[in-house]
Amino acid sequence: MRIGGKIVRLEQIDSTNTYLKLNRHRYKSGTVAITNTQTNGHGRHDKTWLSVPGKSLTFSLLLSTHSKSISIPFFHLFPVVAIVQSLLKFKIDAKIKWPNDIEVRGKKIGGILIEIFSHPPKTDVIIGIGLNVLEDASDFTAELKNQAGSIYSLENRTIKKEELFQSLLLELNLIYEQYRDRSQWRALQKLWRDQCAHLNEKITIFQQDKKIKGIFVGLDDNGFAIVETASEQLIIQDYDYVSLRAEHDTDN
Ligand code: BTN
Repeated sequence: MRIGGKIVRLEQIDSTNTYLKLNRHRYKSGTVAITNTQTNGHGRHDKTWLSVPGKSLTFSLLLSTHSKSISIPFFHLFPVVAIVQSLLKFKIDAKIKWPNDIEVRGKKIGGILIEIFSHPPKTDVIIGIGLNVLEDASDFTAELKNQAGSIYSLENRTIKKEELFQSLLLELNLIYEQYRDRSQWRALQKLWRDQCAHLNEKITIFQQDKKIKGIFVGLDDNGFAIVETASEQLIIQDYDYVSLRAEHDTDN
């Protein structure tokens, strides 16, 4: 089934990721769950993901595979590329901030939470997407104001959430089908690089108790980040407990 072949619409739920996690045995691969009011959304690093009813776009999709080995980086790369492609179609100059945040003019407008459940021979991947669409500045806490924004607060555009949602589903399906074969990963990585906000820039990566300063030079063949520090080239084989600050970031 294509991504979005079945859409479960929930008026209110704690988290669309949790919903799909608990109900994944009932649904086929490609099922999408969307809610108007997410009451206990979570982001990476076990952080809370705040959403404003009617203003934020919050949905998750389930992809199940029986293949023996899955590429974790692929599941991180393809959704963010699809989201940025879709936003570009709305003439929103969105960029990717590694590992898979979406930013506009240096402010985060969206994030993706990937959760993987392996029970051989099947693996379920849940991809949760949160996008700030219609929030205004007052919807963000003082702490978030410097770093986060919405399409409305940054672009002064009132895009219809349902229109954006449908466009995202089309693009997610297209990019997934086009690039899922390993032979296509280089092409997907090229798209990722073209959309990256901090390629060849000075960055700092925060990885649990480590802080790595260097130049972000791209992705290796497996999709992991390559950073050149003063003394060596590092491959960061982590997508979960990492974050990045670029020199141009607004909160520096
Ligand atoms: C991040 O940047 O930390 C990732 C945020 C992901 C938020 C989305 S909203 C829909 C889905 N449900 C959740 O609880 N989280 C994801």
